[in-house]
Amino acid sequence: MFVTTFGQKGGVAKTCTSIHLAAHWANAGRSVVLVDADRNRSATAYASRGLLPFAVVPMEAAAKATRHADIVVTDGQASSNEEELKNLVEGSDFIVLPTTAQSRSIELTVEMACMLNKFDIPYAALIVKADARKKSSIQVARDVLQGFDIEVLRSEIPLLNAFENAETQGVTVDRAVTKNGRSDQRRMTGFFAYSQACDEIELSMPQRKVIPMPIGWNVSRLEDRCA
Ligand SMILES: Nc1ncnc2c1ncn2[C@@H]1O[C@H](COP(=O)(O)OP(=O)(O)O)[C@@H](O)[C@H]1O
Ligand SMILES: [Mg+2]
Repeated sequence: MFVTTFGQKGGVAKTCTSIHLAAHWANAGRSVVLVDADRNRSATAYASRGLLPFAVVPMEAAAKATRHADIVVTDGQASSNEEELKNLVEGSDFIVLPTTAQSRSIELTVEMACMLNKFDIPYAALIVKADARKKSSIQVARDVLQGFDIEVLRSEIPLLNAFENAETQGVTVDRAVTKNGRSDQRRMTGFFAYSQACDEIELSMPQRKVIPMPIGWNVSRLEDRCA
């Protein structure tokens, strides 16, 4: 399965989302590789302490590194270039568009969704940095996106200092500690929100198409055929 996090310019939690989707699937025993397709290489920087439960590889090394992976998560480069978008869609089974509840962010997600509608690719918006004190603006964001026929994952990623601490410490949010060295109290809320998003993504993946074998091909093992 190829899942790509994609969308707006910096700061909308694309890298954070890629890291936590990959971590959930890796913790569930799947073989996961995160491909860092962003020229800023922020996923690579996040992983540089070697504390994440999956490999992070730059785009240029992806072909070899992902050969045996069950799940490839790509931290995509923000772009509205049609050609780049087409290539990205071709390399993905599902696209996640992280979005905050701010109006500019919603506008950009709607623009991106309009571009993605030209292709045959499932995608969904994921509300990130959801401030628990601003429940009504989060509901408005959800309503606006759905009003444009954009699927919005039910899971919302809460705004938590623990995410920033986790990034500084090079770990996933469930392992983040505060500046005093204590476990962050709300860290698991953040981690479970991403886990729930992973489950929703898997559920909304279309059944894989079975590629018909060309007539005349024999795919049984050579030894069996000789016997
Ligand atoms: N849910 C969240 N709550 C608080 N801070 C967050 C959250 N998600 C991401 N961040 C922080 O926001 C900043 C931008 O996130 P990042 O994933 O690097 O965005 P992008 O890849 O879109 O540029 C980082 O400092 C990150 O730690
Ligand atoms: Mg990034």
